[in-house]
Amino acid sequence: MSETVAFPQDRTCPYHPPAAYEPLREGRPLSRVTLFDGRSVWVVTGHPEARSLLSDGRLSADRQNASFPTPSRRFQGLQDRRTALLGVDDPQHNTQRRMLIPSFTLKRTAALRPRIQETVDRLIDAMVARGPRAELVSSFALPVPSMVICALLGVPYEDHEFFEAQSRRLLRGPEAADTRDARDQINGYLAGLIERKRTDPGDGLLDELVATRLETGETDIDELVSLAAILLIAGHETTANMISLGTFTLLRHPEQLAELRAEPSLMSEAVEELMRFLSIADGMLRVATEDIEIGGVTIRPDDGVVFSTSVINRDDAVFENPDALDWHRPARHHLAFGFGIHQCLGQNLARAEMEIALGTLFDRLPGLRLAAEPDLIPFKPGDTIQGMVELPVAW
Ligand code: HEM
Repeated sequence: MSETVAFPQDRTCPYHPPAAYEPLREGRPLSRVTLFDGRSVWVVTGHPEARSLLSDGRLSADRQNASFPTPSRRFQGLQDRRTALLGVDDPQHNTQRRMLIPSFTLKRTAALRPRIQETVDRLIDAMVARGPRAELVSSFALPVPSMVICALLGVPYEDHEFFEAQSRRLLRGPEAADTRDARDQINGYLAGLIERKRTDPGDGLLDELVATRLETGETDIDELVSLAAILLIAGHETTANMISLGTFTLLRHPEQLAELRAEPSLMSEAVEELMRFLSIADGMLRVATEDIEIGGVTIRPDDGVVFSTSVINRDDAVFENPDALDWHRPARHHLAFGFGIHQCLGQNLARAEMEIALGTLFDRLPGLRLAAEPDLIPFKPGDTIQGMVELPVAW
């Protein structure tokens, strides 16, 4: 069956699972795959099994566990420091998450919509003024979420070139040493920022956490820096990739785009379907701490487990005709934001950003088109968050 499939692999087309994952789709719901270092781990590809395992306390997210799987060479060496939230289990995870939940509710996110709209409008005005061509990642897809998360956290946007470059190195650095150094640079920057906020507070979430959690001793500087880093990185990189890859995908699906333009009220369904179809966080990682029987196999303690979101979200037992992009299907139960205790904290914010960014972009620039051969436009490698490296467009 799938004994020899290497995981993860680069996509062949930026919006489909890698062609080499085809045997995994047939071998559902769990198969064995081989990581870059020769290690054999479980890959979960069945939707019900993924939901069940992602809510199972016998799988751990502790990246400091010596048996925790690493997707590629560049991510080796990050285990020396604990990653807040994403890298901790309950009860510690629950304590950390409870500190942040109030800032990411549907209500708090809805209140940010006018600000997101204003940011999007301003960026499109600037593109139009310089047009009729642009590189969409740097002029739109990245600055939208980057500006929004900076305002939310209280991180000065003037520093964006620094932290965007370091996030890029962290997620896509050439060597493990770059990845670790990038993480340390971001942490050092945020530690300095938090230190300054102790004496000169502003009105962002980090300022609030300094006043209500750090000064009270409820958290310490290391934990707060790690929380800030994950919010800053997850808060801009992921959504930026959805905006760039979403735009590319819409431009490659003219029928679906025309339908969306004719009926803009479909936008929230379209965002959900794009999340399912694109599954940009493809390869969530866990390690087993106990025996788990599931899908006819037994996962043993210390076994690595990876979740191929792109395959899970195309499970044809759950999504009819899964390889088609269809605004009318019920797509909301996709697992592109994960599931269980680590399910994406920023999903309400991400949805608002994507709806406003994609809706406004296609509304304001009706003639938007790719300005390069689609096959020549670079996209990201398989071991990291999926998205376009660059996206040349014209209108
Ligand atoms: C479309 C964009 C986004 C996608 C596809 C995405 C995807 C994900 C996924 C799959 C997970 C779970 C990972 C796992 O279980 O191993 C996750 C967790 C997380 N995401 Fe997002 N995310 C997005 C946007 C955001 C935004 C805007 C924020 C803003 C702060 C954010 C913050 C987080 C945090 C803090 C976690 C960790 C939650 C926890 O461990 O409790 N994400 N995200």
